[in-house]
Amino acid sequence: MKIPDIAPGSKILAFGHYQPANVVTNDDLAKSMDTNDEWIQSRVGIKERRVAPDGESLEDMATIAGGKALAASGLSPEDVDLVIVATCTLETQIPNASAVVAHRLGIKAPGAFDVNAACAGFCYALGAASNAVRAGSARHVLVIGAEKLSQWVDWTDRATAVIFADGAGAAVVGPSGTPGIGPVVWGSSGDKADAILIEDRTKFLHQEGQTVFRWATTTLHPVALEACSRAGVDPSELAAFVPHQANLRIIEAIARKLGADKAVIARDIVHAGNTSAASIPLALSRMLERGEVRSGGLALVLGFGAGLTYAGQVIEIP
Ligand code: UT7
Repeated sequence: MKIPDIAPGSKILAFGHYQPANVVTNDDLAKSMDTNDEWIQSRVGIKERRVAPDGESLEDMATIAGGKALAASGLSPEDVDLVIVATCTLETQIPNASAVVAHRLGIKAPGAFDVNAACAGFCYALGAASNAVRAGSARHVLVIGAEKLSQWVDWTDRATAVIFADGAGAAVVGPSGTPGIGPVVWGSSGDKADAILIEDRTKFLHQEGQTVFRWATTTLHPVALEACSRAGVDPSELAAFVPHQANLRIIEAIARKLGADKAVIARDIVHAGNTSAASIPLALSRMLERGEVRSGGLALVLGFGAGLTYAGQVIEIP
């Protein structure tokens, strides 16, 4: 037996993102349910979110975000031999999104699988992509987080309808002479599986908000610290902290405990809502576009959500 040449490290070469054009403000929601802008902003931090129309699918959003990341990487479709889509809101059980998206992007016969780790999905997929590159299983990997949560939310349920949104973010992962993606720290709390669930295809998303809030604000900062420690990075060296965009109060609570004093904290939820597996690459891609973070800096990404699942790693910003 012979094993391929193994890359010493992996790195993110580029990001890309896509959001549907349709902006839904808190005042828009208050017209059809018993809620208001003050409650949503003070409890969750959201001012507005994007919602895809009926004709725009999760695969459509994933293809655009993936195509942008690929173009920004300077690679061509032939250079990619693995596509991973992190999602928990596909409309159909099969086929998976990754094979469909790869085909639409002209990527010929890549490995293609979806990851369902809900809002932690992008970090799981990034960990798998990094390992595949370093093990010689793939030269370049297109990793996409894409969600159309609007099709799984009960639009009369104010507890969930004001939170969740649609969008996609993508990253291209390739080999590197120096480490650009730190070891992933991942785990789960299956004892709290009922806290966020879609029971079957006739049901909408149900969330025990306070259970998840307590769990997120008390158990995730050690995961964040461990991801830094496993990468040999002190939190004071971080240029950015990009956690899953679930709730501004959760983001700020974890950031305080992390003590990453110099880091820009991602607050993309304000204008993008909670887009589950898409939220981290969407936030980072938008931060890069706005010039809020610089190439070469270190960012800590941290996903968490249904399962309950969590995962995080330190990355070098492309
Ligand atoms: O992305 C996956 C991971 N998910 C998370 O991390 C979510 C974690 N949880 C949270 O972010 C928060 O728990 C929520 C944003 C979901 C809810 O915020 P909360 O501060 O925990 O509110 P609550 O559910 O305890 O509700 C407080 C009050 C209730 O009224 P009473 O019983 O005190 O009279 C609710 O009925 O607020 C009421 N309420 C609302 N009021 C206006 C609930 N939703 C709304 C609403 N507008 N949209």
